[in-house]
Amino acid sequence: MSDQVRTRTGTKPPDDWDRRGLPGWTYHSDELFDLEIASIFRTHWQCVCHVNDVAGPGDFQTFDIAGERALIIRDSAGTLRAFHNLCRHRGSRIATGTHGNCGNSLVCPYHGWTYNLDGTLRGPARSETFPPLDNAEWGLKPVEMEVWNGFVFVRFAPGPQGSVADTLACVAGEVAPYGLPDLRPVEGSAYSEQLEANWKAVRDVDNEGYHVRQAHPGLDDLYGRKYYDEPYVDGIARSVGPFNQGPARRWSVRNYRKLLPEATWLPESHRRLWLYVGMFPNQVIGFYPDSVIMYQEVPLSADLTTQRGAIWRRKDESRQLRVARYLSGRIDRDAVEEDRMLAMWTCEAARSSAYEGVFLSDLEYGLRTFHDHLRLFLPVMREEKEPAPGTLRSVNECLISEFGP
Ligand code: FES
Repeated sequence: MSDQVRTRTGTKPPDDWDRRGLPGWTYHSDELFDLEIASIFRTHWQCVCHVNDVAGPGDFQTFDIAGERALIIRDSAGTLRAFHNLCRHRGSRIATGTHGNCGNSLVCPYHGWTYNLDGTLRGPARSETFPPLDNAEWGLKPVEMEVWNGFVFVRFAPGPQGSVADTLACVAGEVAPYGLPDLRPVEGSAYSEQLEANWKAVRDVDNEGYHVRQAHPGLDDLYGRKYYDEPYVDGIARSVGPFNQGPARRWSVRNYRKLLPEATWLPESHRRLWLYVGMFPNQVIGFYPDSVIMYQEVPLSADLTTQRGAIWRRKDESRQLRVARYLSGRIDRDAVEEDRMLAMWTCEAARSSAYEGVFLSDLEYGLRTFHDHLRLFLPVMREEKEPAPGTLRSVNECLISEFGP
C-alpha cells in the first residue's frame, strides 16, 4: 500500500477494497442526471463567491445550477442577501451577466418591474394596469445562504447536509491562518468553461493524485514527490502537496519556489505546501501560501459540464507575493487545461463497446470514496446495467429502502 493515500485518522485504506468504479451507464444517463440534480445538486451547498466580490451596495453575483438561478447582492444597508434571480412578473432574469453593480435598484430588463436592493418590489412598470401589489409579498424570493469564512454558499432545498460550518468543521482550525474573511478577489481570475463530459468524469479526474506524475508536469515538479490524498469522509476530502526539495525542472515552478516569500501568517508546516479541501459533491477550495482558489463543476446535461473557478489574494499582498501568485496561477492554469482532455476521454470511453469499467490503484482510493458518497444518495448507481427507460427513479426508491440513506 502506498504512503500517498491516507485516511483522515492516518490509517491506510483496507487491503480488500473494491477497485471498480461506477458502471459506465452512469456517465451518460439522462434519467440519472435528472435524479442527480434533484437529489444532490439542489440539496447541497454551493459556493458562489466571496463576500468581497460583492463589497459595495448594489454589487451582485449570479450563479446558475440545477435549473435554478441565484442572485447574491449587497443591499444599501450593507447586508448581503440571496434571492432567486427571477422576476415575479413573468420570470425574466432580474440581474444579467455573472456580476456587476445595479445602482440603487434592480430593474427587470423585460417590462421594467423595479426591486429594491433588499428584494422588496419598488413597483411594477405602468402600475395603473395592475391591481395594488404588496411590495413584500411580490418581492424577490429568498434563497438559503450561509457565509463561511467569507465564502458565500447557497442551497436551493433542504437536504441531508448540515450547515457549511458543520461540514467544514474538520478543517476550520487548519485553514483559519489563511485569513479567509479578509481575502480580496483577483481581478480577471474568474473563469467558466464548458467540457463535453459528464460532471462525475470531471470530478473523477480531480479526486485522485495518481495521474499527477504523468499528466501534470508542472504540479509534479512542484509537489509530486510527497503529494497525498485523503479520501472523502462525511463529504470532505483533503489533499496535500508539500513542495519538492531540490532543483525544479520547469521555469515557472523554479521561480515560484524561489520568489515565494516566507508566509509568516501560516504555521511552518503550511508555508511551502498546497492544500486542497474537496467538498462533496462538486467543489474544491485550494489553500496556497500566496492565494486561495475555488473551483467547481456545474452540470448542464448528462454529457455537458461547466467548470468555473476564481482566485482570491491577501488583503495586504506584497509585490513579491503578487509575483508568486502570478506564477502559481500559471502552474494551475496548465493543470486545469491538462485535466480537460482526460475527463472527456474517460467519459467517451464509457460508451465504447470495449469498455469494461475501471480498475483503481491505491492512489485512486479517494475516487472510490467519492463514488461511495454518490451511491449513498443514489443507490441505483450500484446497478451494473441501466434500468429500463422510465424506471430509474422507482428502482432507486426501492434500493433506498434496502440500503438507506
Ligand atoms: Fe420582469 Fe416582466 S418579466 S417585468
